[in-house]
Amino acid sequence: MSGIEIEPIAGSLGAEIRGVDLTRPLADADAADIRGALGQHSVIFLRGQKITPEQHIAFARSFGPIVVNRFFTPVDGHPEIAEVRKEPEQKRNIGDIWHTDHSYDEKPAMGSVLLAREVPSRGGDTMFASMHLAYEALSDGLKRTLETLRARHSSRHVFGPEAPYHGSDLASRLRNTEAATQDVVHPVVIRHPDTGRKALYVNRSFTTGIEGWNPDESAALLGFLYEHGSRPEFTCRFRWQPGSIAVWDNRSTWHYAVNDYQGERRLMHRITIEGVALQ
Ligand code: SIN
Repeated sequence: MSGIEIEPIAGSLGAEIRGVDLTRPLADADAADIRGALGQHSVIFLRGQKITPEQHIAFARSFGPIVVNRFFTPVDGHPEIAEVRKEPEQKRNIGDIWHTDHSYDEKPAMGSVLLAREVPSRGGDTMFASMHLAYEALSDGLKRTLETLRARHSSRHVFGPEAPYHGSDLASRLRNTEAATQDVVHPVVIRHPDTGRKALYVNRSFTTGIEGWNPDESAALLGFLYEHGSRPEFTCRFRWQPGSIAVWDNRSTWHYAVNDYQGERRLMHRITIEGVALQ
């Protein structure tokens, strides 16, 4: 039996985990409990983890193999770790739109493990939304319609040569524009690969349209789903401290990095975990 404590932080999703010290090897029972908590709560949080990049990588591997992000600047000497950084003089942050990491991939990342290195004195929280709850709150009629649909996702309009970030101060923090070639189609409603629970799987950042629908029709339906999915009762909000970690399940959540700390530095290290094709 492991000695960890798991405490939900909201009625919707998210739980804080206590009794874990990632500077030591993680016992198998603790790793299993942490994975179980992630399955149950969709996003989990740990605090006070003053760990090295190697320890961050070891913790991420306890969830599965790592998939390297193509577009974020990597941490020196650690290509597995992507830097999510904003300097005091920079205005734009990474991730201030509700999204699901890597949904443009054929096998989208299973999850992300984000570690806070430096945080602003106030602000810079991250919000999460449950796509299980968002799906479950829809009417039976709309659920039936959505289950027949597939949506296109792409990296091109976000990270490609024509992407709007090129004209902004984000340009120095993103790279590999020529690698933004991913176009993929996923079901609009997926079954979670581990639990079978259904979840809405479209997001404002990477979803580009509904297969077989014209742009106006797609925009109307997706616009409704984006408003619906971000209703406060489906969300939780995490306040970071240095050494805080969030691990989220990309199949059942959206997240949003709040950009309310102009003039201060925020430095996060993110590792993404390999996933499977979605059905
Ligand atoms: C991300 O979108 O992966 C980054 C989230 C954050 O910086 O809070």
